[in-house]
Amino acid sequence: MDTRAELGRTLVVVPTYNECENVESVVGRIRATVPEADVLVADDASPDGTGEIAAALARRDPQVHVLHRPGKAGLGAAYIGGFTWGLDRAYDVLVEMDADGSHRPEELPALLAALRSADLVIGSRWVPGGRVVNWPKSREILSRGGNAYTRALLRLPVRDATGGYRAYRATTLKEIGLDDVESQGYCFQVDLTLRTVRAGLRVTEVPITFVERTRGASKMSRAIVVEALIRVTAWAFSYSRKTM
Ligand code: GDD
Ligand code: MN
Repeated sequence: MDTRAELGRTLVVVPTYNECENVESVVGRIRATVPEADVLVADDASPDGTGEIAAALARRDPQVHVLHRPGKAGLGAAYIGGFTWGLDRAYDVLVEMDADGSHRPEELPALLAALRSADLVIGSRWVPGGRVVNWPKSREILSRGGNAYTRALLRLPVRDATGGYRAYRATTLKEIGLDDVESQGYCFQVDLTLRTVRAGLRVTEVPITFVERTRGASKMSRAIVVEALIRVTAWAFSYSRKTM
């Protein structure tokens, strides 16, 4: 499906930290599935050489780019760097996708199709039709629990507010503003969902099959969970003060 006519130019931002076994495969699958889209690998100076592999891919393919960042600063910071790069170059659609194959590039056309009538599309594990393959029970409980807590406290009309497979219109990112985003870890996803909902913009969830990685290691950590818990709770209080 060619989405250019209605949506304009698309940039798929892929953040990487130590994804040397995955980066070539995911970039190839994106290029094969959505050939009109460009790809930006946002690498935090991975010690395993992911940045050099991505640079070699970029030399071979003018639609592949690399943002070499100075060091590990978290998923949120990598996405802000990647989005800013894309907005500066006038892309119309900015996509978030993990590098480890959990977000299947073959499902991207469905997200882009839904963006025709939305301002943010979330590839969702927790709507009917969505599912997770090969996750340990502990991780599923964390995600379901985190989403339940987030939905209850922030009253977000979203089932998978922590999901990281997304498509934003550039206009959405400009309207919600990225300059004052402080979230470093995975709560970045909740942060931008909340901003989009509060701005009165349209959020749509599309079911996805999230496939746990088979190569490399997750960067999920206790610090990421603690940051999310603290920030979500703080946002709930600042929101209720504003609306009371
Ligand atoms: N540049 C950069 N810097 N990339 C990072 C960093 C970082 O500090 N931390 C993680 N990444 C990249 C990874 O290399 C990968 O491409 C992607 O971000 C997701 O990281 P994973 O470590 O594979 O995340 P996960 O599988 O545990 O978590 C998934 O679920 C979370 C909760 O639902 C992801 O989809 C998250 O986006 C999601 O929030
Ligand atoms: Mn992963």
